[in-house]
Amino acid sequence: MAKYNKEYYEPLEQMMAVRHQYMSKILRDHTGQDIYNFFQNKQVLDLGCGTGEFLNNYFEMGAQCTGIDIEKNFKLKNKKNFNLYNLDANTFLKNCKKKFDVIFLFEFLEHLEEGDKHKLFESLIKILNKNALIFVSTLNKNLLSKYLAIDIAENILKLLPKKTHEYDLFLSPTQLQTLSQKYKLSLLNVEGLQYNPIIKSFKLSKVDLVNYIGALKY
Ligand SMILES: C[S@@+](CC[C@H](N)C(=O)[O-])C[C@H]1O[C@@H](n2cnc3c(N)ncnc32)[C@H](O)[C@@H]1O
Repeated sequence: MAKYNKEYYEPLEQMMAVRHQYMSKILRDHTGQDIYNFFQNKQVLDLGCGTGEFLNNYFEMGAQCTGIDIEKNFKLKNKKNFNLYNLDANTFLKNCKKKFDVIFLFEFLEHLEEGDKHKLFESLIKILNKNALIFVSTLNKNLLSKYLAIDIAENILKLLPKKTHEYDLFLSPTQLQTLSQKYKLSLLNVEGLQYNPIIKSFKLSKVDLVNYIGALKY
């Protein structure tokens, strides 16, 4: 995996707004609640949280937030308000005694080997509170996603450091659905994320061929 730096985190920061928009929509449709009310007093877990900064939004809405990342890149200013652990996600899950209402798996599954994806899902279902939701964003698996995410983004435009991604680890929505079903999770919805490199921003799209976001429920 690539070394983390500004170049690595910039596109992830550009994804934060669209994730929030997507979660607002799913929460409204599936819980009838506004995102700001929903997150009050919720237990939130972000696996592969990177800088952890995405969690800050939900901390500010009243959630209790836990972030796990194998690399020490936490950049939160008010770290004492968060439970942040430098651990492999599966090691954390194996020993986890807490239960969660919302789990984020953002741009994370495409960094795990097949066996580790299975171990993760097997453990995840043991730490879910009733009606918990899991939000996932990742890269689809096809020649277009390989071309855009690796050949163009890493090697030509250098939007990401080289070797950030390994094509073999990409996961199509169908593979995500199969993996979820095996662990009795249902994939509620999938939408594409479309990147505009000129304005450096993502928007929701019907086309899920490259980046996509989805929601899972037990
Ligand atoms: C592409 S970044 C995504 C960061 C964050 N979720 C976001 O979307 O902004 C992937 C993160 O997963 C972490 N990671 C990769 N393998 C991991 C593992 N086995 N356990 C925990 N974290 C891991 C990396 O260190 C990295 O910070």
